[in-house]
Amino acid sequence: MAKQEDVFKTIIAHAKEYGFVFQSSEIYDGLSAVYDYGQNGVELKNNIKRYWWEAMTMLHDNIVGIDSAIFMHPTIWKASGHVDAFNDPLIDNRDSKKRYRADVLIEDEIAKFDDKINKEVAKAAKRFGESFDEAMFRQTNPRVLENAKKREELHTRFSEAMNANDLAELKQIILDYEIVDPISGTRNWTDVRQFNLMFKTEMGSTADGAMDVYLRPETAQGIFVNYLNVQKTGRMRLPFGIAQIGKAFRNEIVARQFIFRMREFEQMEMQFFVRPGEELKWFDFWRQTRLKWHKNLGLGDTKYRFHDHEKLAHYANAATDIEFEMPFGFKEVEGIHSRTNFDLSQHEKYSGKKIQYFDPELNESYVPYVIETSIGVDRMFLSVFCSCYEDQNLGNGDKRAVLHFPAPIAPVKCAVLPLVKKDGLPEKAREIQHRLRFDFTCQYDEKDSIGKRYRRQDAIGTPYCITVDHQTLEDGTVTLRERDSMEQNRLSVDELEAILKEKVSLNTLLRKLL
Ligand code: GAP
Repeated sequence: MAKQEDVFKTIIAHAKEYGFVFQSSEIYDGLSAVYDYGQNGVELKNNIKRYWWEAMTMLHDNIVGIDSAIFMHPTIWKASGHVDAFNDPLIDNRDSKKRYRADVLIEDEIAKFDDKINKEVAKAAKRFGESFDEAMFRQTNPRVLENAKKREELHTRFSEAMNANDLAELKQIILDYEIVDPISGTRNWTDVRQFNLMFKTEMGSTADGAMDVYLRPETAQGIFVNYLNVQKTGRMRLPFGIAQIGKAFRNEIVARQFIFRMREFEQMEMQFFVRPGEELKWFDFWRQTRLKWHKNLGLGDTKYRFHDHEKLAHYANAATDIEFEMPFGFKEVEGIHSRTNFDLSQHEKYSGKKIQYFDPELNESYVPYVIETSIGVDRMFLSVFCSCYEDQNLGNGDKRAVLHFPAPIAPVKCAVLPLVKKDGLPEKAREIQHRLRFDFTCQYDEKDSIGKRYRRQDAIGTPYCITVDHQTLEDGTVTLRERDSMEQNRLSVDELEAILKEKVSLNTLLRKLL
């Protein structure tokens, strides 16, 4: 098994053991691709959401937030194109009775060529040591070149079939490449057919005439249909944005990689309305602004990259993903899309209402163009969690599992620990906790040795531990232990609030954005 897979398994186990993420309905054997956030997970998630929300709405004069309902009029999903085109191509294996995404089966086949190439490169790197020239090897080694050619052929055929929505060709690729069902090991495949990803339910009783409604697959449409409400009531002038955080639902067929692809997840989306013709300038602005927001967390600049879309949706004129290096490779965390005036125009057409902006400078009305930034809360959580986790070797056989969360988003900011459970130290520690709890998530812990308590706080990523000892009673000083360096400094209790505020407040992070 690849080492990275082991790392990822350890991270998932840690997330459960320390109250971050649980499988949904676990005591009933779980519900696939649905997860619950535990006592520490919800704090981290809320802090990530606050970081996004405040960066959007407090740092920009022209961005306001809304909270629209999950249920919306079903025609909205017709207008947006989701009823007709929000599909995955599916294929069933008649022997295992399992259903797969045809595109994922083929992508996995493409990845096999990549694996073969990477194995050749790794073997050669080992053989040649320091003198190994990887670029040269990739350009000249016959086995690498042959696999690269085969990969390219399959990739081209696959892309053409996907672009043409040619389901028969997708099946033919699966047959030609002799792709087998991983469970039954057979090639007894059905035809490929389209499967809509939206969850449908009924609203109202049958006697009243129930109506089919959908659980929203994105929060964005709730913003579009409120464009006029917000623009008019807020007297907003272009360019301006509307931000929203909320749940979205997709009946994902291939749900894997823990909370990376879920059936119920959360999005943080912002639609920025601009004058037609200015959209590419704003697209570029948001591309840079969003990357800065990510990098500002300090998880490592090399962990991010842009993936510009070559194939654009018919209504988009630019699109890029911000990808983050997860333990299973670079993966999309956020999408930035220039959506033209497609959505607002569609809602104008389907609702029959005029959705336009009167531009006083140009003295004309038009349907605004839109730049969208769309990030998954759960993917952001996963990227933070994975990159902050470390199984640290401290020497002399001592180890610790530590989460190096950026302090402003850590679930618990500080823990107050009496050195021993007697001599008035617990009472003093409680007093200090009470002083701090109004500004910081602050835990109190007196159980087990001080070393064990430090480890417990390291494991949930608490940046500071405040230890109360006998000297505290004499001179009002405590030790402040820093999680990453494990250094301890003695200081006065009266200094704590100011120091913690500077280190752990979200403001510190937000200020760096301006
Ligand atoms: N309104 C545009 C939109 O929804 P998207 O690329 O489909 O675009 C945006 O989704 C973001 O939502 C993704 O970058 C990802 O972070 C998150 N996301 C999408 N599907 C997801 C899923 N099944 N589970 C978790 N997050 C998901």
